[in-house]
Amino acid sequence: MRVLAVVLLAAACAAAAAAAELPEGKISTSVRRALDQPLNYARIYLADLLPRSVSRVLYLDSDLLVVDDVARLWATDLGPDAALAAPEYCHANFTSYFTDAFWSHPEYSSIFTNRARVPCYFNTGVMVIDLDRWRDGGYTAKLEYWMEVQKQEARIYELGSLPPFLLVFAGEVKAVEHRWNQHGLGGDNVAGQCRELHPGPVSLLHWSGKGKPWLRLDAGRPCPLDALWAPYDLLRRRGARDDLLAAVA
Ligand SMILES: *[C@@H]1O[C@H](CO)[C@@H](O)[C@H](O)[C@H]1NC(C)=O
Repeated sequence: MRVLAVVLLAAACAAAAAAAELPEGKISTSVRRALDQPLNYARIYLADLLPRSVSRVLYLDSDLLVVDDVARLWATDLGPDAALAAPEYCHANFTSYFTDAFWSHPEYSSIFTNRARVPCYFNTGVMVIDLDRWRDGGYTAKLEYWMEVQKQEARIYELGSLPPFLLVFAGEVKAVEHRWNQHGLGGDNVAGQCRELHPGPVSLLHWSGKGKPWLRLDAGRPCPLDALWAPYDLLRRRGARDDLLAAVA
């Protein structure tokens, strides 16, 4: 997987500048300022940023650790028509990801009525994307449509780039085993709250949420699971950055 990592890193460097420009003027403020960064929206533009010869991409957030062979996730079968695969969480309260203004607007809320399956929450920090299907389906424009509704017409959600993904893909994603996104380890939007792992096997640990392990480690108030992050933190581990640069050289 080193080759893939190198390709991704190189592509990420080249694309980062462009990615910062693409969502310009389309971002509306969210409840968390960290979510308003243009790079938070880069995942929406992968089909535009990457060469057309790239037909599949594995998108991973930067606040996670993979503890399994990621090739297994990469090889996910997307079935006959899904453009996106991710773990789904059907017990999460889907309603709460959108505002009353959204649910009370018949035109907006009706978009969920014709989905292949019941629309469920999924986390956009771990996604397998078929870029050919994405381009054919015009999904960048579909996501931007909802960003424009949010900015120009009505405040229909409170978070950053996640709700547009739910609006376009919920109920249409190919479900992936939960082991590939043990999310929420950052804790809720309540300072100092620590989370435990969800039951079941773990292939990927994700510190999604407001709290971040590097901030808690720096502050000397880590949560128990942050100890798993510490050895891999490139800024904290002596020599780790040199190892990475040597690997991509
Ligand atoms: C789900 O969230 C909505 C909006 O935040 C709330 O009104 C509703 O009571 C919640 N439902 C459950 C089952 O918690």
